[in-house]
Amino acid sequence: MPSYRIIGGEKLTGEVSVSGSKNAVLGILAASMMLDGPCMLENVPDIADVRAMLEICETLGAVITPLGDGIFKIDPTTINTHEATHDKVKNIRASYYLLGALLSRYKKATMHMPGGCNFGTRPIDLHLKGFAKLGAKGTGLSDIRSGIIRIVADKLVGAHIFLDVVSVGATINIMLAATKAEGLTTIENAAKEPHIVDVANFLNAMGANIKGAGTDTIRIKGVPVLPGGFSYSIIPDQIEAGTYMIAAAVTRGDVTVRNLIPKHMEPLTAKLIEMGFDVDESDDAIRVSVTDCGIITAVNFKTMPYPGFPTDLQPQATVLLCMAEGVSRMHENVWDNRFQYVTELQTMGANISIIDKVALVSGPTQLNGSLVVAMDLRAGAAMVLAGLAADGETIITEAQRIERGYEKIVEKLTALGAKMERMDDQHTVSQRPDAGSF
Ligand code: UD1
Repeated sequence: MPSYRIIGGEKLTGEVSVSGSKNAVLGILAASMMLDGPCMLENVPDIADVRAMLEICETLGAVITPLGDGIFKIDPTTINTHEATHDKVKNIRASYYLLGALLSRYKKATMHMPGGCNFGTRPIDLHLKGFAKLGAKGTGLSDIRSGIIRIVADKLVGAHIFLDVVSVGATINIMLAATKAEGLTTIENAAKEPHIVDVANFLNAMGANIKGAGTDTIRIKGVPVLPGGFSYSIIPDQIEAGTYMIAAAVTRGDVTVRNLIPKHMEPLTAKLIEMGFDVDESDDAIRVSVTDCGIITAVNFKTMPYPGFPTDLQPQATVLLCMAEGVSRMHENVWDNRFQYVTELQTMGANISIIDKVALVSGPTQLNGSLVVAMDLRAGAAMVLAGLAADGETIITEAQRIERGYEKIVEKLTALGAKMERMDDQHTVSQRPDAGSF
């Protein structure tokens, strides 16, 4: 498995461009499996989760043609099965969107339980309750004990669905299943994340009738066919953009992050300003730099559904809090178990204690390079940021987890001045490599 080697201490400077949104494209690829004709997708990021999802779609029978430069032609008219039981389904969380898509297409769907990052219980009860409201019934809604989910419906009929927990996945999945259902579906207390809007915009471009995505009430008027036939460009990745904005901050650098949507970055932008950074916005770029006095103020974060601070930037922001003067609180409000990476930061010298759902971070701390593990995708990104800020050499093992969601991260950071390389050889936590030069 690959590792990353970083020599910290370089101030990052320059410009970096954000790739297409991982979570949007995964939902849109699943949605494309419902179409009655082909479509083109643009700005598709070249990341491991997307490659896995494309492979899963091909095993369903879809014909996928890469046209270069992040453009793909997707032809779902050749799909010949409602069973998504390819091994890769177990590896990515977003494969659960195939449940909604295949249910819409075949009125039945069979799938492995989805995998993804392990940061606490990740139930799909709200997805299944939503499907049940639309008419999924019969031979048992699901058979989760076997690791296989089976859903059937005689027909799908629009319904009023209230989500008692705000869930990104359930919102998108119910939206997919309702797109070709008979009549009107209303999702109340829907999640409002940018990628939900992107999936809805994609479906509308392909012939659906979805209104209200991005608010807490989504109305879906079922359509009999989704002709497809258009090109659709995926939105920029909010979390990748945020990671590079924080990379500028932790290295006290001066970086312009391009090809982002500033509105999506507001929860982070507000905190960076509160901490004392200079943040300049333009139409599709944000520049983050350090003010003259250079003091980073301790602040408190609380992760929340959009437009709150995203949980997927929580580990990266915690690294930044290590640099702040005083005690900061990071309150994880979405997932039960998303502080596992803190042990790795402690190895690097971070002063963090966890009390229930809150990480108390005392700073400022000069982190020291160390051998650490990328425990999951965003935890791995946090290790990269910590390595960039640390004195000396950091080796990050299990870097393939980072590559699930970051396109060309080594190349992008190196272009900003980071001393970083990817190594294919295996390192274990018992190996402490000698520091070396690049
Ligand atoms: C998505 C993102 C993930 C992000 C998360 C929260 C994708 C592919 N993944 O995950 O990166 O961290 O949103 O922004 O887009 N819940 C239930 N029952 C359910 C579903 C969820 O109780 O049926 C709870 C979860 O335990 C969690 C909360 O709802 O506490 C939010 O989960 P959800 O928004 O569904 O996350 P995902 O869609 O899995």
